Amino acid sequence: MRFVETPGIGTTLIQLVDDQRKLLSRLEVLELTIWFSGVKIPVAGIAGVYTPPGLRKKGYATNCLKHAIRKQQRKDKCLLMLFGERDFYARFGLTPIGPWYGIYVSQKLAALPPEPLMRDCQALDQAQILNLYTQNVKPRIGAVVRDPKSLKPFFPTVWRNGGVCRVLIGSKKQFAGYVWHSAPGTSEFEVVEVGALHPAGYDGILAYLLYETKRRAKDHFLAALPPDDPFSKYLMQFEAKQVVEYKPNSRSLARILDLKKLLKLLTPVFKERVRLIKSELVPRTLMIKTGKSQAKLDLAGTYPGVELKIEQTRLTQLLFGTVNFDLQTSGRDGLNAEIGALLFPKFSAFTYLKDRF
Ligand SMILES: CC(C)(COP(=O)(O)OP(=O)(O)OC[C@H]1O[C@@H](n2cnc3c(N)ncnc32)[C@H](O)[C@@H]1OP(=O)(O)O)[C@@H](O)C(=O)NCCC(=O)NCCS
Repeated sequence: MRFVETPGIGTTLIQLVDDQRKLLSRLEVLELTIWFSGVKIPVAGIAGVYTPPGLRKKGYATNCLKHAIRKQQRKDKCLLMLFGERDFYARFGLTPIGPWYGIYVSQKLAALPPEPLMRDCQALDQAQILNLYTQNVKPRIGAVVRDPKSLKPFFPTVWRNGGVCRVLIGSKKQFAGYVWHSAPGTSEFEVVEVGALHPAGYDGILAYLLYETKRRAKDHFLAALPPDDPFSKYLMQFEAKQVVEYKPNSRSLARILDLKKLLKLLTPVFKERVRLIKSELVPRTLMIKTGKSQAKLDLAGTYPGVELKIEQTRLTQLLFGTVNFDLQTSGRDGLNAEIGALLFPKFSAFTYLKDRF
């Protein structure tokens, strides 16, 4: 039995094979960088974990995952992330950090204005799409940093789920916004990304989506976007139905691989979060101890340093804003509730592990 590794662009396929090179189990490791409140964090993504049906429950997937995690720990990745079933991945230290988000928008939502002009996305649109996407996700947590270099070669309309990118055309025939949605023929008409140069662009994109819903003979479309996405906020002014759901197969999971490096990169984020508090109330440092690892965060206040003793999985959820900070997580001489709540605000983590470009 041995591992065969096949590197690709931004991804490595790891296969566990027997002596006859028969596949026993496989997975992919994705080289990613995610946005975290304006800061870039290097992440190892895991996808495509698979053991052929006749070979399951023999520990092969576990072997593959342990091998992949060990290798990533030796690299400079701060976090491990994947979409998957909580119960299977808990044994590898992964914890849920985000549910599946959906906003169901009825075809009868609004009186329809004339349908706006739209066209398929072209290579020339890429730079503007990238700018809008980055503006939209940079302050949030979890979205993949899109590398302009990865825009070439250009795949105009297909992502792995068979999606379509359409561009909204402005009154001077210029690029005014875009929407990325599932291709005709899919069971659900799903919208996964929207951006507009001006807020009025959302009116046009919504009108297009409602016409398209009709053309597809559906009674709704589904915007699979977190509540803090600008297009979600726009939709919520209508009577759209918002659903936040933990689907067994599409839960985002994460694990900290290198706490010291992660906190170092996040130092400007944490300093910013307590910037408006009087310096004498802000601790000089916060020592975070998880039992598995510990690291000191420099907060630049003048109050004496404090400690936070916390399980690694709980800390992961606090960092992604999945749970609220509460005093139970802190011990004596610990972080006070007010500063804790400022350092660890709630977020709607937004994770795309496989990018669409
Ligand atoms: C999930 C999968 C990769 C597990 O592969 P495997 O080689 O059988 O895994 P292992 O033998 O290493 O581990 C099996 C253990 O995981 C458990 N397990 C498997 N799937 C599970 C699930 N969905 N939820 C909870 N536990 C699960 C088994 O009960 C077994 O537990 P045990 O060790 O206590 O007996 C395999 O079932 C598979 O390929 N499934 C279809 C594709 C898939 O779902 N991939 C995951 C994508 S996120």
